[in-house]
Amino acid sequence: RELRCEVVLMAEEKYETHQYDVIVIGAGGAGLRAAVEASAQGVKTALVCKSLLGKAHTVMAEGGIAAAMGNVYPEDNWKVHFRDTMRGGKLLNNCRMAQIHAQEAPDRVLELEEWGALFDRTKEGLILQRDFGGHRYARLAHVGDRTGLEMIRTLQQHAVHKGIDVYMECNLQRLLTDGGKIAGAFGYWRESGKFILFKCKAVVLATGGGGKAWKVTSNSWEYTGDGVTMAADVGADLMDMEFMQFHPTGMVWPPSVRGILVTEGVRGDGGTLKNAKGERFMFNYIPEFFKAETAETEKEADAWYEDKKNRRTPDLLPRDEVARAINSEVKAGRGTEHGGVFLDIASRRPADYIQRRLPSMYHQFKELADVDITKDAMEVGPTCHYAMGGVRVDADTTAATVPGLFAAGEVAAGLHGANRLGGNSLSDLLVFGRRAGLYAAEYCKSLNGSLTVNNDQVNAFARVMLAPFESKGNENPYTIHADLQECMQDLVGIIRVESELKKALEIIQQLKQRTRNVKIEGNRQYNPGWHLALDLHSLLGFSEAATLAAIERKESRGGHTRDDYPNTDAKFAKVNVVVRKKNGEFALSQEPLPEMPDELKALLEEKK
Ligand code: FUM
Repeated sequence: RELRCEVVLMAEEKYETHQYDVIVIGAGGAGLRAAVEASAQGVKTALVCKSLLGKAHTVMAEGGIAAAMGNVYPEDNWKVHFRDTMRGGKLLNNCRMAQIHAQEAPDRVLELEEWGALFDRTKEGLILQRDFGGHRYARLAHVGDRTGLEMIRTLQQHAVHKGIDVYMECNLQRLLTDGGKIAGAFGYWRESGKFILFKCKAVVLATGGGGKAWKVTSNSWEYTGDGVTMAADVGADLMDMEFMQFHPTGMVWPPSVRGILVTEGVRGDGGTLKNAKGERFMFNYIPEFFKAETAETEKEADAWYEDKKNRRTPDLLPRDEVARAINSEVKAGRGTEHGGVFLDIASRRPADYIQRRLPSMYHQFKELADVDITKDAMEVGPTCHYAMGGVRVDADTTAATVPGLFAAGEVAAGLHGANRLGGNSLSDLLVFGRRAGLYAAEYCKSLNGSLTVNNDQVNAFARVMLAPFESKGNENPYTIHADLQECMQDLVGIIRVESELKKALEIIQQLKQRTRNVKIEGNRQYNPGWHLALDLHSLLGFSEAATLAAIERKESRGGHTRDDYPNTDAKFAKVNVVVRKKNGEFALSQEPLPEMPDELKALLEEKK
């Protein structure tokens, strides 16, 4: 058969091959920004993305870019932003990353504006900033509720005009190494199914997270944990994999749209959460940690909406707190008919304000759910949104623990600790995307000697990737994916318990066995069943690492809530759970957080 011949005849010259200094994998905000920077440093750069250029999860960060510009509140500055980020992350953040992020975010926003992003403005003509959960001041630079989209549009245009080579619908699956150093990447064109080989000196991973392993998710099909798994496969450390963010507000009805994001901007602009009895339940869920700054009565919260000087409404507590509160209300039988709660902005704001500030939400609900949000409340519930964990990186350079490998954005761990504040991801992408491009380019320039791609290694990958066509089994990749999503949703969800996590691990092992029997019919040209069969490797790798880390952390903190260990535990307050592959199996360790310098410690203690 033709396919078998291809497998047998495979030799390196048969693959379409390209040579670059830096390959950036992923074209969301981090990937685009990294590619722009690497190219500006004069190294030959390619941007490779699995989907069409412009279609990235970045677009789902609708509400804004967090940056202490002080345009609305002159009192705001990087120190307050640093403190908010650390508190939101339950102090598990890499403090140096949090410092760099808070210090550099304003410049990155201004740079984006110079490159053509059209932000909403204050009356004085400055970039307007809106409120978001966990941020002391209105801090999110935004473009209505389409900020991520505007960011991608701007960066993409900039990258294309710089002449960066872009490979779209090109799915890289494996990293190649020479003597432990990155030497290339290997994958296939989605359209033709033909293999493609990149030889390079450095790879920047900007592949986002693995939210597609969960059933109810804001993530689209691309988010299958590719970067995390590729990095782990070449021996890089993963960190904080137990922390998954469930955004409190995804759509819950109708079923076909369950999980689609409802921006936190709705609450930032005045929306309040209510249970099915019409009660504003968030007042019952204010944790001790946030009591000093959070309104405890409706009257007090309403006063904040008017003058923003009072204690903030608990509707804008960090996401982990709000998601858990919604979960508890629904479990207690106070949820809506479809298992959510209500998000009401119509009672507080006039229709023209809602349509101007939240145009996408207005259309999303009108078209997908037949709800007019200027009149009626939205039905919302938690949706798997973001991975705080990922590839362990150096705070300044974004270098992973494998030479030549860099990671930025959601695929990288550290900045957000146990829970990310809304809006901090768009600024993360810009700040660390730039740094990844810069330091990857520097690495290339400093590299001595040549790197060789091992043809046997490449051929072996190609054989594994083609195996589903030759399989004698009868497993369907869609069924395996659906079973994984069920497992992760039910057993590794918002609330976790040891017995369920262990059960999840068993299921993941069984699913890994079943993937060996996946059978793909048809040929290699645009075969989505085959693409999913290949993505199962990363979906399962991501899920296994997340579950193992969740078993290891026997406490509750941020995006990891253990019913059997409901409190934070001092033993875990200063350690990251690190996962790395040894002889093909994941191994775990607990490793101390970097020491926090005294000047940063002092910032955490300051009240203002
Ligand atoms: O709610 C949102 O608009 C999402 C923002 C984010 O994830 O940062």
